[in-house]
Amino acid sequence: MNIVVGITGGIAAYKAPELVRLLAKAGHEVRCAATEHALQFTTRVTLETVSRNPLYCDLFASGGTEHISLKDWADLLVVAPATANIIGKVASGVADDALSTLLLAMPPERVLLAPAMNSQMWSHPVVQRNIEVLKGWGIRTIGPAVGELACGTNGPGRMAEPEEIAACVARLSTANCQLSAQRWLVTAGPTYEKIDSVRFIGNYSSGKMGFALAEALAEAGADVELVAGPTALKTANPKVKLTRVESAREMYAAATALFPQCRGAILSAAVADYRPAEQADHKLKKQGDEGMTLRLVQNPDILATLGGMKTDGQTLVGFALETDHELENAQGKLQRKNLDYIVLNSLRDQGAGFGVDTNKVTILSRNGSSKESPLMSKRDIARLIVNTIAS
Ligand code: PMT
Repeated sequence: MNIVVGITGGIAAYKAPELVRLLAKAGHEVRCAATEHALQFTTRVTLETVSRNPLYCDLFASGGTEHISLKDWADLLVVAPATANIIGKVASGVADDALSTLLLAMPPERVLLAPAMNSQMWSHPVVQRNIEVLKGWGIRTIGPAVGELACGTNGPGRMAEPEEIAACVARLSTANCQLSAQRWLVTAGPTYEKIDSVRFIGNYSSGKMGFALAEALAEAGADVELVAGPTALKTANPKVKLTRVESAREMYAAATALFPQCRGAILSAAVADYRPAEQADHKLKKQGDEGMTLRLVQNPDILATLGGMKTDGQTLVGFALETDHELENAQGKLQRKNLDYIVLNSLRDQGAGFGVDTNKVTILSRNGSSKESPLMSKRDIARLIVNTIAS
């Protein structure tokens, strides 16, 4: 997993480098984000050395958007120690430094807090109320433990030991691996339908949604067969096997050959419904003033074909890109193509659909449930889809 360890200004911050070391040793990629007060108890050099990455501490050091790129990068944000101050800030929506801003950008279910403070502070009604608020949003907590505290008293408030936090992270990453040992098929990108040797009919799909889905499935433990139409995107993920195709018929051949060996498929490609009836193997000459007529014939519907091939135990997810009567049209595709889920994109939503890095979807299931997302990065949308089908 990609993990950000957040460190705030409590004496237990001196244990944070050990936590970073344990997480890195367990194979996680780790980056650190610290408040200025945290650096009273541990140092930038120590954190950068153990994480082998630059520390994120200054909100504006690299343009003021690093909290967003870190949020997109991180599978988990572990704040250890989490002081009463940072807990209160998150509960009240205060984002006034690098770490609190990152915490507000992170989806709550990807945050783990290890509170550490004096017992009286921990027992204060406002801290207890804040902790309940955070838990209600899905933020997880570990500790605090009861024991001797730096202020010389005994009681609840000790940060959970780095080994316990690392074990908790290991449990969370296993829970993330809901699809391990499963093979999944994903289609991505556009298809190009040749008119002649230099021209084609295509569409604006970039492949970003499909590549994000492949990454999210791999992150959940699956081995992924990614069949992509023409796109500049690449993947270095060893769990993703990329097959590049050009036309709908090539995508059809690859997908129908792979599907029988897969536990499921998510078809996000924007496949051309039609192709030119004739495809010239040379450059067609200009036809003159009377214009030119292209006769189109229908391409095979890959999703409907997989719906027909689907056996018990296989899960099939389609996309629907709609401009009007969105829900009605998506429901129709879900039924007609024998799908388990359909992910509806409306081109009426700003920031959703072709080319952009964000999307906004409604996931409809065969059993009638539906889940609407806010506008999120395609990476987070992909995780939402994968979590929905995996659960
Ligand atoms: O690639 P990006 O730039 O990131 O953009 C993402 C996206 C907008 C392409 C993606 O989110 C999306 O909506 N993909 C589906 C686009 C589409 O073709 O929708 P459709 O409603 O026309 O098709 C319905 C479903 O049938 C889709 O799952 C499609 O893959 C599939 N289909 C369609 C035609 C066909 N011949 N074969 C198919 O398998």
